[in-house]
Amino acid sequence: MAAHYQIAGATSAAISASVESGVRSGALPAGTALPAVRALAADLAVSPATVARAYQELRQRGLVVTAGRHGTRVRPRPPVAGRRSALLPPPPPGVRDLALGQPDPRLLPPLGPHLAALAAQVGPPTGYEGGTVLPAFAETARERLAADGVPADDLTVTGGALDGIERLLAAHLRPGDAVAVEDPGWANLLDLVAALGLRPIGVPVDDDGPTEAGVAAALTLGARALVVTSRAQNPTGAALSAERAGRLRALLAGREDLLVIEDDHAAELARVPLRPLAGATPAWAFVRSVSKPFGPDLRLAVVAGDEATVARVAGRLRVGAGWVSTVLQRLVLALWSDPAVAERVTRAGESYERRRAGLLAELADRGVPARGRSGINVWVPVLDETSVVTALRDAGWAVAPGGLYRIGAGPAVRLTVSTLDEADLAPLADAVARAVRPGAAASFST
Ligand SMILES: Cc1ncc(COP(=O)(O)O)c(C=O)c1O
Repeated sequence: MAAHYQIAGATSAAISASVESGVRSGALPAGTALPAVRALAADLAVSPATVARAYQELRQRGLVVTAGRHGTRVRPRPPVAGRRSALLPPPPPGVRDLALGQPDPRLLPPLGPHLAALAAQVGPPTGYEGGTVLPAFAETARERLAADGVPADDLTVTGGALDGIERLLAAHLRPGDAVAVEDPGWANLLDLVAALGLRPIGVPVDDDGPTEAGVAAALTLGARALVVTSRAQNPTGAALSAERAGRLRALLAGREDLLVIEDDHAAELARVPLRPLAGATPAWAFVRSVSKPFGPDLRLAVVAGDEATVARVAGRLRVGAGWVSTVLQRLVLALWSDPAVAERVTRAGESYERRRAGLLAELADRGVPARGRSGINVWVPVLDETSVVTALRDAGWAVAPGGLYRIGAGPAVRLTVSTLDEADLAPLADAVARAVRPGAAASFST
């Protein structure tokens, strides 16, 4: 525990506010163990039930996590901080950042020409009455999804994939409900699940996607939703194979009690075919973000699904934020419709493919097992994350510790390959080999 921060309060609300304030100010950093319920209750002269209520409230909002004998701790990335980039501290000068999981900005299409064309085309300002999914946008999105085998008669638009997933989970689940997530899986999704007060059930992932046994176990444990990454799974690179998709479809067929959410964030960048689960269950949604191929700052995703699910998301959006700006929709439509942009996205996908495959080959040459069937990340199992992250940082490479991405899966580190050059691959693989086998490196160099 951070000895210098005194949690205060005479009610559960005051105690949880005091912890929140400590988290917000940094006095209670991520991982800090909070006092045991009875100890804090004695300290504050309140009943243990009062402290337990405060901790439960903090848990439901994703600020703390309680893990058996480890007690209650501040979550790695509690939802009271500002920018996303604050979630991983920037590397020191001179250290290459392979931790961010972002597309290479040099490979994103420049928006300038399309913004300029848009400026020339837009008519009079649009008022509230025009706030909707533009018919031309919906039509093109529908065609693009249908080409990949996703029935998209019903669709809506959200502010990115995670916004769509949040709205889908909120539309079908209540705090305390269980949601099956890939393990290892996308850290931001784990953060979101915690912040919504949902219970994550980890489903193991191999290169073909979530395992059948893992999904079956999650169903037995009462999962009300399952989130599957179609391709370029973050962090392992898994891509749902035709066979796995077929087996999962059979397993899930007709489940009335389960919402299946597919996250196809690789979208047009993907170099492997889409094997959708869409429609296997009565309640389903397929989320395709434009972040990775066209730029994260566009903040737009298409959400297709069954009629009732899409109506819930669109209806809730309508009574809240309203709609995703038609200006943004027009811009994305222009990007989708430009063959030069499509060509650029194809080249970007090929380039990520070369970098990832190149790094995997260099690691294999050095006897370092690693995963990365698709996408922009390589996942390297390690014995000790902290020592590998530190050794790589000392060697000039910042990588992400696997702890952010896993529930029960083994330790590993994630390397984002998107900004690597050909000449980086061998020195990086050397550094990784030394970091994962420090003993071997020491004897080699003496
Ligand atoms: C698994 C996964 N889904 C979706 C996204 C994109 O999300 P958004 O559309 O919210 O930018 C990412 C980006 O890193 C991701 O890794």
